[in-house]
Amino acid sequence: MKQIVIEGGIPLTGEIQISGAKNSVVALIPIALLSPHNVTINNVPDISDTSSLLEMLKLLNCHINYENETLSIDTSNVKNTFIPGTLSKRLRASYYLMGTLLAKYHYVEMCIPGGCNIGLRPIDLHLDGFKSLGATITTTEDKICLKADNLIGTDIHLRVPSVGATINLMIAATGATGTTHIYNAAKEPEISNIADFLINLGANITGAGTDTITINGATNYHDGEITVIPDRIESGTYILAGALMGENLTIFGINPDNLTSLFEVLNNMGANYQLNGNNLTITKKDTYHPVNVTTTYYPGFPTDLAQPLSAVLTKCNGTSTITETIWENRLGHVPYLVKMHANISIDSKEKISIYGPTTFLNKEVEASDLRAGASLVIAALAAPGITTINAAEHILRGYENIVEKLSGIGAKIEVKEIE
Ligand code: EPZ
Repeated sequence: MKQIVIEGGIPLTGEIQISGAKNSVVALIPIALLSPHNVTINNVPDISDTSSLLEMLKLLNCHINYENETLSIDTSNVKNTFIPGTLSKRLRASYYLMGTLLAKYHYVEMCIPGGCNIGLRPIDLHLDGFKSLGATITTTEDKICLKADNLIGTDIHLRVPSVGATINLMIAATGATGTTHIYNAAKEPEISNIADFLINLGANITGAGTDTITINGATNYHDGEITVIPDRIESGTYILAGALMGENLTIFGINPDNLTSLFEVLNNMGANYQLNGNNLTITKKDTYHPVNVTTTYYPGFPTDLAQPLSAVLTKCNGTSTITETIWENRLGHVPYLVKMHANISIDSKEKISIYGPTTFLNKEVEASDLRAGASLVIAALAAPGITTINAAEHILRGYENIVEKLSGIGAKIEVKEIE
């Protein structure tokens, strides 16, 4: 088990650079398999989700070179191979191998994906979409097999604008003859980044980033290149850390257009920040105005920032609320923030109230999932004394060089391997 140990109460000052987006790269890497020879992916974050996917690509006989954030993948000798649970279960996004291998070979056999423990994470929309493109699906225990004689373009109406289903079906539809429309598509910025890569590889896709995406399939894939967009959730996490402990903390390389819902919340709180192009400088305030925040689909407030935000809302002068509408179990951080002296009530499965202002105390806590862990890191940075965060591997799945980055802005933080 990995442990992050933080001696908190020290102001965060200086400069921190944002990495490439986890939720883009986890699709861009599987998509590389579509190219006949070589692809290059730039600005690839060195996180454990990246290395898990690269292991899967190696199993499929790709040759990989990953240096200085640039990933070169030689796909000339790819073999469509069964992906075992020891690999697929390491992360949720292994499901993008389904759409990719279905598009390329019309055949996929793999174990089901894993991912953060944040409640039920169905993939019915992915599977229904594959079926309507012409695939037959058989499942046995934890294995899934997708097969199609022909994939044929169709109209797909998503019940909810699922990020994963939109991406997976967009990929699969590039391998179908004819036209596919995806209605009620997700509009997250990662979708456009991924569509750009598919287009760069030869696909004919329009409408990514809107609620209707059109794919003219039967793509003749060629080699290509893409740059991963900045991680808006990492950006938001460090901005929020700055709202709690920043002293002229500058966050470099954000895309402010992708963070408007966070800025709206920060403005309502009365946060002290200045935007300068793609950089943001923030200095903490002792207290903030309380806010009521509801997570929703992009461009609304992201579920992935609700947990980090809740640590900062302890500084509000009065009661703030967070209502979670995407995942059924995203409150794993609450008992630990309370252990650290936050005053938070769980009003229902979806809603918490945070009564402030309170001050964090150092304790031993545990990261139940990636963003719960991020919220505990923020709280620990503010708590004088030493806070120990167990199960820190969850955090390392999604934040590149978090220890080095936070050390670089003055934090006393280390990661330890324990029995
Ligand atoms: C992506 O998950 C992200 N993960 C999540 O980030 C993020 O929380 C989520 O989008 C929402 O923004 C990756 O990109 C790898 P969804 P995804 O399909 O695609 C329901 C993080 O911390 N649904 O958009 O799996 C589902 O239950 C992670 O970085 C179905 O009902 O999420 C949920 O309520 C955690 N059937 C809603 O849709 C399906 O087939 C949105 O899920 C698929 C989803």
